[in-house]
Amino acid sequence: MDQAKVTGPAGTGASQAEIETWLAQLELSPESNLIEVLQAVQERFGYLPPAALREISRRTKTPLSRVYGVVSFYAQFYTEPRGRHTIRCCRGTACHVKGASRVLDAVQRALGVTEGETTPDLKFYLETVACLGTCFLAPAMMIDNQYFGRLTPQRVVSILRSYGLEQ
Ligand code: FES
Repeated sequence: MDQAKVTGPAGTGASQAEIETWLAQLELSPESNLIEVLQAVQERFGYLPPAALREISRRTKTPLSRVYGVVSFYAQFYTEPRGRHTIRCCRGTACHVKGASRVLDAVQRALGVTEGETTPDLKFYLETVACLGTCFLAPAMMIDNQYFGRLTPQRVVSILRSYGLEQ
């Protein structure tokens, strides 16, 4: 059996045995609500490790292809570890005309990742969005639930440092 560690966003690892033990507590059955189970697993491990998906499939007697189908249908689920902090840089029109691409460049350079990636230390996950709904703050970004606006490349770096960027 594969005992390789899987790593969650907070840097905690879980072996396949730990995943199995934890899932056993959920007392899964074919009647289990698959979406609720996936949400619980993602909350526990920070993402959906493949070992957990296989185990869910086995315990709920749901074809693995169907489990993956549900995971890929809902944007809330992800199968790769994500950073502890999620950064959402806006690439909408209002932000674009106010220099959003320079802001995004600065974030990418500071973190050493591009959108859709997590930093190797699992501190940050970077993505772009079409509009954050705060166009009056353009150019804007969010870190977790916090909005930041009227950004400049310099300001972005100091904000990231306040979230633990080491540079
Ligand atoms: S376009 Fe950036 S917040 Fe709306």
